[in-house]
Amino acid sequence: MVQTIMVIGAGQMGGGIAQVAAQAGYNVILNDIKDEFVQRGLGIIDKNLSRAVSKGKMEAAAKDAVLAKIKTSTSLDDAKDADLVVEAAIENMELKANIFKTLDVVCKPEAILATNTSSLPITQIAAVTKRPDKVIGMHFFNPVPVMKLLEIIRGFMTSDETYNTIAEIGLKMGKVNVEVKDSPGFGSNRILLPMINEAFFVLSEGLGTAEDIDNVMKFGMAHPMGPLALADLIGLDTCLNIMNVLYEGFKDSKYRPCPLLVKYVQSGLLGQKTGKGVYDYSK
Ligand code: 3HC
Repeated sequence: MVQTIMVIGAGQMGGGIAQVAAQAGYNVILNDIKDEFVQRGLGIIDKNLSRAVSKGKMEAAAKDAVLAKIKTSTSLDDAKDADLVVEAAIENMELKANIFKTLDVVCKPEAILATNTSSLPITQIAAVTKRPDKVIGMHFFNPVPVMKLLEIIRGFMTSDETYNTIAEIGLKMGKVNVEVKDSPGFGSNRILLPMINEAFFVLSEGLGTAEDIDNVMKFGMAHPMGPLALADLIGLDTCLNIMNVLYEGFKDSKYRPCPLLVKYVQSGLLGQKTGKGVYDYSK
């Protein structure tokens, strides 16, 4: 039975996952390589919960109870106390492989090791451990406390028992689960990213302004935000990484990254997180 969840990475995604896990009643260990990163993640959670309190959607005491559920950590050794680890570190295969190798040694034999990767192969991550049946993808969506979807990705060796435990946790977190097999971009990003990439082609061909391209999807298709604004929210570097995974994975030119997207990334214009992407957030 899962009671304690460790979240590795206290950034945008990891912080959100820690918040929904604590709100679902789990004991949470929020881990990152430096305490200042963990404190920043905690600060965002505090802000999110305070906003809910000020809107009358949550009691102040409930906010305190959620925060009290979250312990902080800067050592992977703390994973020894976890029944489930959700890794939400940066998207780098070598880094993730090292984390999973360490977790495999530190964690209890029955602990489940999940990754929030947006595109790296679950089967390959699982293969660095001696428990590939207990490795699974838990793909959350940004902003995690708001977006209802949990895409659960089965690696080649993931057991039914592991899948069922994770599906139950997803429901407890208030998410709508979808189950997909391991494949480049999984289900969600295989559909979403080509749309975003195409929006960059449309922009680069001068067919319309960024605002007009976004308005096409906002007001024509009722998307909450347009694809270019969404790319800024996701991070243009992440978008490019995922396009490269699709392109290399399927060897199909329909997934070639738009050169304009590449130029934004090369220029360090990565979206909201750097204050500038397609749009300017610096003011
Ligand atoms: N963290 C927590 N809560 C947030 C938030 C954040 N970062 N941003 C907004 N919210 C909450 C607000 O507090 C508000 O809550 P309330 O309804 O309880 O009052 C609610 O969300 C709506 O927020 P706003 O009124 O400020 O703004 P909008 O109505 O414009 O919504 C949005 C903002 C939720 C971001 C909406 O535009 C949206 O849904 N956009 C699409 C996001 C999306 O597609 N995400 C998926 C990205 S893909 C991904 O993550 C996968 C990866 O692998 C690439």
